[in-house]
Amino acid sequence: MTKMVIKGTGRYLPERVVTNDDLTKIMDTTDEWIQQRTGIEERRWVPEEGNVGASDLGLEASKIALSRAGWEPKDLDLIIFGTLSPDLFFPGSGCLLQSKLGLKSTPALDIRQQCTGFLYGMEIADAYIKSGYASRILLVGAEVHSTGIEMATRGRDVTVIFGDGAGAVCLEGVETDENVGVLATSLHAQGDHAEALMVEIPASRISPTRVTHEHLDEGRQWPKMDGRNIFKLAVKRLPEVSQTVLDKAGLTIDDIDMVIPHQANLRINQFFQKSMNIPDEKIFNNIQKYGNTTAGTIPIALDEVIEQKLIPEEKSTLLFAGLGAGVTWGAMIFRFM
Ligand code: ACO
Repeated sequence: MTKMVIKGTGRYLPERVVTNDDLTKIMDTTDEWIQQRTGIEERRWVPEEGNVGASDLGLEASKIALSRAGWEPKDLDLIIFGTLSPDLFFPGSGCLLQSKLGLKSTPALDIRQQCTGFLYGMEIADAYIKSGYASRILLVGAEVHSTGIEMATRGRDVTVIFGDGAGAVCLEGVETDENVGVLATSLHAQGDHAEALMVEIPASRISPTRVTHEHLDEGRQWPKMDGRNIFKLAVKRLPEVSQTVLDKAGLTIDDIDMVIPHQANLRINQFFQKSMNIPDEKIFNNIQKYGNTTAGTIPIALDEVIEQKLIPEEKSTLLFAGLGAGVTWGAMIFRFM
């Protein structure tokens, strides 16, 4: 049977470190508030000079993942790009990345599943590989949030949590009867909560023009979040969906070598850890250093877990889980070859 394996991972975080104290100079907030409520100590932002989009961060992460896989860009059958902060309103960042990789006609697909982007991307890649439509796929999760958040007290609930960064994985189909690759997935969406976390402008539903000076004056171009609602949904849905994939795979949490949750808030992940009885050494968090890089969090964390040798080199079993805007949520169990 064809199984999807990970051949290489990579990450890229911009060099500019922005501490909580740095944020206190542009809005009414404190290091204490941010650390207590979110666990975040610092995040990375793209250079102030600009001209760095999600595809640029994705490119750097992709180069590392490709070199670890031993692949050239021309070996790719498909690029899947997860982002909520695309370089352009359209076309998608996957097309820009494809060009930056020097490719001429390789298909590129953008997905907009926000914090669940990596999980949706993995499921799409698995389906392409198992169906025989592709055998070598580059999956990227990348965000440039810093140019799209309000640098003022009005937007502080959102601005303090987001960071810029990218992660990439090279995925390949291999023929094997071993129980490896994606062992179980469960993906969901509930559009009733779409406005609990959104950027409204520019919007096709607004006529006659999707963005006006009045909209900008009202600040409708900045993300708006009902943080408490999202928090409550996350602490309910993450354990629930993780248990679903464990049951589907016929495993228990003891069979998992490492849990890599989406990094939205350290407090959410601590609730999740407690309700699933996950020992400290079996859950990985790096939100303290990077904030929430949305589609980037899980592949960035995966790359660090591998680099720090926190999982066995062979046959390690990972549980990924996340919830974000949409709302979308999901979990996946993945076993390495
Ligand atoms: N600094 C100081 N005070 C602040 C800040 C800040 N950065 N932000 C909000 N406050 C204030 C509020 O104004 C409020 O003041 P008030 O009591 O005088 O009205 C007070 O702090 C409490 O505000 P809450 O919003 O109730 O704070 P809460 O404890 O809920 O924490 C937070 C806010 C951290 C955003 C939390 O709700 C959260 O993490 N929610 C989930 C976020 C998430 O998971 N998002 C989804 C992923 S992102 C994606 O998909 C793109």
